[in-house]
Amino acid sequence: MRQRRVKNLDEKLTALSSHVIENPESYRGRWREVFGNDNPIYLELGCGKGKFISTHAAKYPKRNFIGAEGQPTVILRALEKAEALGGNNLFFICGFIRDVRAYFAPGELAGVYLNFSDPWPKSKHGRRRLTYHEKLTAYTEVMREGGFIEIKTDNEGLFEFTLEEIEAAALRTIEMTRDLHAEETVIENLDARDITTEYEDKFVGTGKNINYVKVQG
Ligand SMILES: C[S@@+](CC[C@H](N)C(=O)[O-])C[C@H]1O[C@@H](n2cnc3c(N)ncnc32)[C@H](O)[C@@H]1O
Repeated sequence: MRQRRVKNLDEKLTALSSHVIENPESYRGRWREVFGNDNPIYLELGCGKGKFISTHAAKYPKRNFIGAEGQPTVILRALEKAEALGGNNLFFICGFIRDVRAYFAPGELAGVYLNFSDPWPKSKHGRRRLTYHEKLTAYTEVMREGGFIEIKTDNEGLFEFTLEEIEAAALRTIEMTRDLHAEETVIENLDARDITTEYEDKFVGTGKNINYVKVQG
């Protein structure tokens, strides 16, 4: 996501710091303490400006959400949305997550969302893609029984790669479409179509098809 200069960025981030979890690795195995309840916890990795995750948090007050985003100027917009929302079921990790297992214990998450992840188009960078099979396996390792991974992307190359990696990780495909927003597409998980991201809105606006797949371990 393109970074724009933001005036007084540090002051603005500090003012919204109640939505950010400092030292997130220290909460490994005890994220329920952050939320103060046993509701299921969902992670969006690379949440960008936070439209998707904050819409989920508003729609599902009995679910907990964590957005992770490595770019401070981008996450600022997500924090502003959380502030406007005012609930207590949405927090953010400000940083690039390399291995989810350093942040979450086995069984701690109910789902992982990967929306419009960076494609890393050079083949030598395949391991950096968030859908590389070792990363997919890592997500399932921190997921409870019945947990899922949902992936949306405009990028055809990344989607083909992802489908291969899903197979390599021996995950089960629950739903898949190459045109999520087409009128004729029938999809069981209506949230996948109804709750969009900033990137998605941009691509859908230009008529670009959106690829979607939901898998389980
Ligand atoms: C192309 S943008 C998409 C943002 C948002 N999901 C959307 O659809 O509007 C991908 C974002 O993921 C973030 N990102 C990439 N790898 C990440 C990681 N390992 N941990 C946290 N954020 C990451 C990038 O900084 C970037 O803002």
